[in-house]
Amino acid sequence: MPAFDLLLADVDVATMVDGRYSVIADAGVGIIDGQIAWVGAMSDLPANDVASRISLPGQWLTPALIDCHTHLVFAGNRSAEFEQRLGGASYEDIARAGGGIMSTVNATREARRDTLIEQTRRRLVILRSEGCGTVEIKSGYGLNVDVECRMLDVARTLGVESGLSVINTFLGAHAVPTEFRNRSDDYVDLVCNEMMPAIAAQNLADAVDAYCEPIAFSPDQVRRVFDCAATLNLPVKLHADQLSDSGGAALAAEFNALSADHVEYTNQPGVEALAAAGTVAVLLPGAFLTLGETQLPPLGALRANGVPVAVATDCNPGTSPVCSIRTAMALASSVFRLTPEECLAGVTCNAARALGLADRGTIEVGKRADLAIWEIGHPQELSYWLGSNELTALYVAGQRL
Ligand code: NIG
Ligand code: FE
Repeated sequence: MPAFDLLLADVDVATMVDGRYSVIADAGVGIIDGQIAWVGAMSDLPANDVASRISLPGQWLTPALIDCHTHLVFAGNRSAEFEQRLGGASYEDIARAGGGIMSTVNATREARRDTLIEQTRRRLVILRSEGCGTVEIKSGYGLNVDVECRMLDVARTLGVESGLSVINTFLGAHAVPTEFRNRSDDYVDLVCNEMMPAIAAQNLADAVDAYCEPIAFSPDQVRRVFDCAATLNLPVKLHADQLSDSGGAALAAEFNALSADHVEYTNQPGVEALAAAGTVAVLLPGAFLTLGETQLPPLGALRANGVPVAVATDCNPGTSPVCSIRTAMALASSVFRLTPEECLAGVTCNAARALGLADRGTIEVGKRADLAIWEIGHPQELSYWLGSNELTALYVAGQRL
């Protein structure tokens, strides 16, 4: 075997192959050209040269974490609405009165690009400090061609700057902007005929998302958006069944979506459709908690049908002001009752799948060397501590960040 550029040695590894810890105790990971070239017990280490060796006794190595659902680019915040909701107003009432997503759209449209960069950088740096090597970022607070493009360009710029892998998702169908009130079909025309082609032409999106809900877009409108994405060869994902059973999960499955996200109200046929399509269910406990929801996602049915489950922050100013993947993991366990192993799979291998990324999410030969090193006694601690940070090092494509 050629020389390793780097050998991480004497470490306990949770490979997360098949969504299990799949532990290799007292192991090593050899890296060549940013990829995992060897993983195994130190007693089986091949006798080849090592340019650089780092010994990590007493620590754990896992795949770098992946936050597969965020709305990280936005201006301002909605703490005033949070207070209104605690006083009894509902998320839907506030949205119908012109607040909600639209108030963040107004703030984001007015913000200078520099301001968006600065505010988003702060959030991205927190996710990186917690071991995220890959972060998905959605647009959806511009709702016109210029500002949707600006948001996605900010995300791309920060991906380069941070060293993280940022995956862009176009979410033009997030809300009907005020200027299209009562003309939502015309707005969908704009999304399909102008926004999406412009974004695709500039290579600003890796996938397309939509919000299927009575306060947002109907299943037929989502179908139009997804048909358009297919013509541009962009994979799709869906905000599905968050506040009501809109048939969102089945709709996502109908289009072989990468993921259906939220899914609290998804019914049994919806779960079966996800399983048949291989669509990942992305659970977002931060939004559930912040909105004071009571309808839990159908975890038993998801497990029974073998639907891969991911976990993400949904970081956004309205429903999930949660800028911590570890917090999302802890909440997924304590609120949704996922096991810590399911949570770790949910932010590694299954999150990679929710983004269509086959090159990461597990510790296996040939995968990208996206690795997180932890000062912990067992990986179950990653969903157990709430508000602490046990990360000691993060590698993306073999480079230490
Ligand atoms: O994932 N549900 C729609 N989108 C976000 C909320 C965005 C907002 O309220 O600003 C979500 O919960
Ligand atoms: Fe969301």
